[in-house]
Amino acid sequence: MPHLFLLLFPLFLSAESSFITQEEYSTQLYHSPRGIGCHLCHGEKGEGKIVAKYKHKNHLKDFKGPAINTLSYQEFYTALTERQRGMPRYFLIEDEIKALYYYLEQRNRPKKKKKKKHAHK
Ligand code: HEC
Repeated sequence: MPHLFLLLFPLFLSAESSFITQEEYSTQLYHSPRGIGCHLCHGEKGEGKIVAKYKHKNHLKDFKGPAINTLSYQEFYTALTERQRGMPRYFLIEDEIKALYYYLEQRNRPKKKKKKKHAHK
């Protein structure tokens, strides 16, 4: 029954995706939100990135996405719920904004000092 399979396939996919970790989810969201990936303009870790160089009135200029890895959550949230010049509008829900912020925090945390509140042996 090929039709039944087609119907069930999306269900299978969404069930599958609920098993991914917060880490995987936020990484995926950063790279493919409903629109173009944040990394394309803000860099892999949110460190900022030059997207293109262009000439304007004979001056070389660049179009860049600013660094977004040093913002407080409040600043990050406000920026994503207001219109930004040069940036697509995403209409993200708060959980998605939290996940994106989480992603940037993970990526920018110093590697060695992993916070371990409960040390397991
Ligand atoms: C097409 C390029 C582009 C993409 C894609 C993009 N941005 Fe931006 N973003 C910009 C530009 C340009 C600005 C600066 C706007 C300004 O200076 O007014 C900006 C500003 C921001 C700011 C505010 C920075 C500040 O200092 O206040 C945040 C936060 C941000 N973007 C997050 C994101 C996230 C998260 C994504 C993915 C969901 C994303 N952006 C995708 C280009 C982009």
